[in-house]
Amino acid sequence: MLKPDYQNMKFLFEPRSVAIVGASHSTKKIGYQVTQNVVTGGYRGRIYPINPQGGEILGVPVYKTIEDVEEDIDLACIVVPAKYVFESIKSCCAKNVKHSLIITSGFSEVGNTEEENEIREYANAHGMRIMGPNMFGLYFSSSALNATFSPPGIIPGGVAIITQSGALGLAMIGKTAVENMGLSSICSVGNKCDIDEADLLEYLVPHEDTKVILMYIEGVRNGERFIEALKKATKKKPVIVVKSGRSKRGAAAAASHTGSLAGADNVFDAIMKQCGVLRAESVQDAFTWCKYISNNPFPRGKETVIVTNGGGIGVLETDACEQYGVSLYDNAGKLKDVFSPVTPDFGSMKNPIDITGGAKSRHYDEALGAALKCKSIHSVLALYCETAVFDSEKLPEMVRRNYENYKKQGKPILFSLFGGQKMEEAVMTLSGENIPVYSNIKDSVSPLGAVYTYKNYLEAHADDMDDIAMDIDAINEIVDKARAEDRYFLLTHEAQHIMTIAGVPIPQTIITSSMAEAVKSAEAIGYPVVMKVVSKDIIHKSDAGGVAINLLNEKEVVDAYEAIMRNCKTNVPGALIEGIEVAEMVKAGTEIIAGAKIDPSFGPIIMVGLGGIYVEVMKDVAFRAYPLNRREVLSMISEIRSYPLLLGVRGEKTKDIDSLVDINLKLGAIVHQCRGISDIEVNPVVVYEQGKGAKAVDTRILLSREQRGDING
Ligand code: ACO
Repeated sequence: MLKPDYQNMKFLFEPRSVAIVGASHSTKKIGYQVTQNVVTGGYRGRIYPINPQGGEILGVPVYKTIEDVEEDIDLACIVVPAKYVFESIKSCCAKNVKHSLIITSGFSEVGNTEEENEIREYANAHGMRIMGPNMFGLYFSSSALNATFSPPGIIPGGVAIITQSGALGLAMIGKTAVENMGLSSICSVGNKCDIDEADLLEYLVPHEDTKVILMYIEGVRNGERFIEALKKATKKKPVIVVKSGRSKRGAAAAASHTGSLAGADNVFDAIMKQCGVLRAESVQDAFTWCKYISNNPFPRGKETVIVTNGGGIGVLETDACEQYGVSLYDNAGKLKDVFSPVTPDFGSMKNPIDITGGAKSRHYDEALGAALKCKSIHSVLALYCETAVFDSEKLPEMVRRNYENYKKQGKPILFSLFGGQKMEEAVMTLSGENIPVYSNIKDSVSPLGAVYTYKNYLEAHADDMDDIAMDIDAINEIVDKARAEDRYFLLTHEAQHIMTIAGVPIPQTIITSSMAEAVKSAEAIGYPVVMKVVSKDIIHKSDAGGVAINLLNEKEVVDAYEAIMRNCKTNVPGALIEGIEVAEMVKAGTEIIAGAKIDPSFGPIIMVGLGGIYVEVMKDVAFRAYPLNRREVLSMISEIRSYPLLLGVRGEKTKDIDSLVDINLKLGAIVHQCRGISDIEVNPVVVYEQGKGAKAVDTRILLSREQRGDING
């Protein structure tokens, strides 16, 4: 595949010339509609419709073949039936076309993957990038290029949309027109055989007119690159994602507990948060946020004030603020200073500011004006419940006036107007003017919540990645040995050896091959000890009677040694017993599960959760993907519901969270750096009081069944 190249992507978004291969004379055909959009959409470059019949379409001369065009062509839109696509791509390559949008369907989405791959390989080998196939085209406001078969009349603006669903994307175009939401770009990635979301983000992020990027995603391919692109993107502008397919089937197929808990959707959700991406529940929410973000200033700080004429609606708005992470200003003294001159005696100067049901438009002007002047207030939510005393004919003007005043000062204000027919009409009109006016509480708070979530992310994140050095060759040697024995799992002592190489503290353990050695080892470790059989033929050691715990003296060790040998020979006849492991009996502490695995979409991810025997029941887990640093891991740990157990409950001391962070980072680094390992799960990691460390007690490691590339590849 060709490496992404910003300069080259310019020819996709801002081509100097466009050919439409399959430009049709028939107005009903997609080839005609694409040509019509390019010709009538304001595109200023050269246009070459291609059709064997020649002639003219919309006054533009048609060339019989692409080879007939004498000038260079930057972009070709392919709208010929699938069986002619490869041949057309070959002609485009012969003409040194830089990009092709293949709108045609009938490739990998219907099982024709082989031809799709051949097309990509051929194009890439000739220096051409492919977008699609099976997509609706691309619109870019800066070049006024509408190479799609959407209904004409896209409104230029600040929202870029990348969608995996073509049909939904086309419908979104219609909806943007209804909502008066301007687009800087819209494209569908189709089967993304070559160009994918990461390539598109790379071009759209520096694009000045693009204020916010909305992505509709169904599945992620090449997730590590996608994460990298998202992290880069969110440093510059908000990215909103709507993802469908919250299926649990992927989780069921996973090989270890880490996998089974990593139901595809919660992993996706965690990674989006980690990348600073705002995830919207619905396309409607995403539109509301995009429209708000693309038209309004960012708040300078976190303090928000609600101004209302109704107590009840104010309380509902307060609840919504808590739900969406909007922080309400509560400096009582300051609020009184600011609002007492503009609030009746029987109103409230505690946030929400209640200017009471008797308020008229001038009372709103006064209260909103006071909030605008106050530098300690950073954003305002203005609520209005329809009343008979309000001079309702002045409502739209009051909203417009205050909105403009706030916009000039760079302070966000959002309105919620609640009531009958007149209110609904006012909302429609004002919202059509791109003023943030909503008819329900949730919609007036959620866009502000999205902005604050993004702002908090920007403030909290730097992109330092903590490198963990370890002897990867030594780990690879253990993995290679297991693979030579045709195993996809490691034996306990092999997993422990890897933990030791990575510097993960484990209980002191000695593998013994005789009773005398077992006794000597127990004494060296110190009683009490645990003994376990070592055998690759015995996976479930306890079931086979191969485990004895809390052995307090030499006699108990001798008895346990004999019992383990006897039980295992009886219960698993023919098993090769390689020895008996003698280990320190770990002291009680807080039991956590920690793991790392290769996620099929996102590459290496780590997880943490409440450990021990309740892990499956509680499903109290959090995830993160690479790149990772201590702060990110700490934020993952603090997300689990059981986090208070680590902070210490009922007078307990705080646990050694730093040691747990270390273990998480090291488990992640093993999977990230050693491409032969697919899953590590440690359950439990026993975490002691602060300063006393943590121990990885039981480690299971699975090996990759698929070839994984170089970590930089
Ligand atoms: N070079 C140039 N022109 C050619 C060539 C060629 N090699 N071969 C055929 N043509 C011309 C034809 O003469 C015809 O023009 P005409 O109408 O003037 O005669 C034109 O190309 C189109 O060819 P048709 O055979 O008429 O094909 P049709 O327009 O019916 O379908 C299409 C072509 C639209 C590409 C179809 O195969 C297809 O894939 N449709 C689905 C598209 C789609 O939905 N994509 C996903 C979008 S996203 C979503 O889900 C909405």
